Amino acid sequence: MRTPVAEAYSMATNCASRTMSCGAHGRRSLPEPFLGVALRAKMPGMQQRKPKRDDRLEVEVERVDERGLGVGRAEHESGEYRVALRRALPGERVAAQVLRRRGNKIEGRLLEVLRASADRTSPPCRHYGSCGGCALQDMSYAAQLATKREICERALAAELVKVDVEPVIGSAAALRYRNKMDFTFGTRRWVEPGEAEGVQRDFALGLHPREQFRKVLDVEACEIQPQPFDAILASARRIALEQGLRAWDLVKHEGLLRHVVLRRSVATGEILMQLTTSSEAPELVGPYVAALLAAHPEVTTLVQAINSRGATVAMGERELVLHGSGSIRERLAGLWYRVSAASFFQTNTARAEKLVEVTLEEARLSGSERVLDLYCGAGTLTLPLARHTAHVHGVELVEAAVSDARRNAEENGIGNVTFSAGDVLAWFGSAGAIECDVAVVDPPRAGLHPKVVELLARIPARRMVYVSCHIGSAARDIAALAPAGWRATRARPVDLFPQTPHVECVLSLERAP
Ligand SMILES: C[S@@+](CC[C@H](N)C(=O)[O-])C[C@H]1O[C@@H](n2cnc3c(N)ncnc32)[C@H](O)[C@@H]1O
Repeated sequence: MRTPVAEAYSMATNCASRTMSCGAHGRRSLPEPFLGVALRAKMPGMQQRKPKRDDRLEVEVERVDERGLGVGRAEHESGEYRVALRRALPGERVAAQVLRRRGNKIEGRLLEVLRASADRTSPPCRHYGSCGGCALQDMSYAAQLATKREICERALAAELVKVDVEPVIGSAAALRYRNKMDFTFGTRRWVEPGEAEGVQRDFALGLHPREQFRKVLDVEACEIQPQPFDAILASARRIALEQGLRAWDLVKHEGLLRHVVLRRSVATGEILMQLTTSSEAPELVGPYVAALLAAHPEVTTLVQAINSRGATVAMGERELVLHGSGSIRERLAGLWYRVSAASFFQTNTARAEKLVEVTLEEARLSGSERVLDLYCGAGTLTLPLARHTAHVHGVELVEAAVSDARRNAEENGIGNVTFSAGDVLAWFGSAGAIECDVAVVDPPRAGLHPKVVELLARIPARRMVYVSCHIGSAARDIAALAPAGWRATRARPVDLFPQTPHVECVLSLERAP
């Protein structure tokens, strides 16, 4: 007599061979419970068909990852697969089209939401489906904050960093919060599904569509940027076309116009426009800029950055101030900042105030400490720290940011700060014995260089505040600091980037006695 398992296995074998011989009809006619057993059973010599491009799968979505993709499980005749796809929310059941498979991991495209989450909401942006800028517009803002907390928790746990992550401090404005946008000119325009035939395809100004770095989506309106930027962007596109200027071709490395960066001060309303070109070309750039400024007197300063290299960065080898002072003035945490085109400045002014506040709280300064502020930019953290302690030394790679920082200190009457311009690693090599009670580090997304981690681990500070814009890098660096006795005691995320999966996190570290 056969056991129930053997019975099921036998039916499974029959079913499986029937499926193979009869194709889809046979498969559809199988009774569901046996189908599951049949398809997971390992049958020697029998090749089970794995999901391939364009197959349809049904996915139970469990979480949203740090890229903003919904990640879940899908059952298939050949086993269980992890599927990652845009615009799918935790708790949802969705139908997905297979785009790529590697092992048991699948990248998919959302076809249909079969069971919607209560957190699902209507995306406010007309470009949302195509644009690579935001990834969470389908989710209510409250759910975005909960998701970001989980992203922090998972990243820290993955590196075995044991610390409770506090609820994310949200942004008061979930739209129109950015003070800076960086747009690209391109010769391969992204054509939206349903757009009329015959539209011009060899010129665009906007953002890259998701994972399409050679194409550029003409952005007509962006919901996270200040309203005046929409019209300036439209003029920059229209005037370039009227004057017959060519966009930079990313592949052939020819053409003139490369980037437009717009910055607006919340405090003064001043607007800085940076135009990146492949050469100086005053005979072309002059009339273009004149027409732009005539159409937009609200642009208070215009800087031309010249980048003749292949790398697609808005930053130039050199800059020419074509109009105004070359910088704007912004007010943050009670201080005035001069921000020039090349300087880093936090992109959400209102929430950056909170970031400064949380950093100050975590630094717990009594008034007598010597503080080291690594990756200090134009001094956004350095100057508020200096108001609460004896001395702060800031280190920053970009010379223009250091000049801004020095000027910012002077204009705010802050004298107890010094700065070094250069790479943090090189600075460690030249600084000699470091005297420091508290260290603040705010590196770019890549986090700390492994050698910087080694050197930082040995500084005489008793406290460190790691301000992170990429929690995965921060978790890795904090784990690497642990053998030297450093441990994380608090993690306080602050949301500076609504509608995207990015989150800032202020982490307190203490050295074990
Ligand atoms: C996330 S920003 C933080 C800036 C500043 N703390 C603030 O809040 O405005 C990181 C800064 O690190 C600087 N940077 C990047 N790589 C660096 C390096 N190797 N050495 C020194 N500074 C660097 C960047 O120019 C940028 O200003």
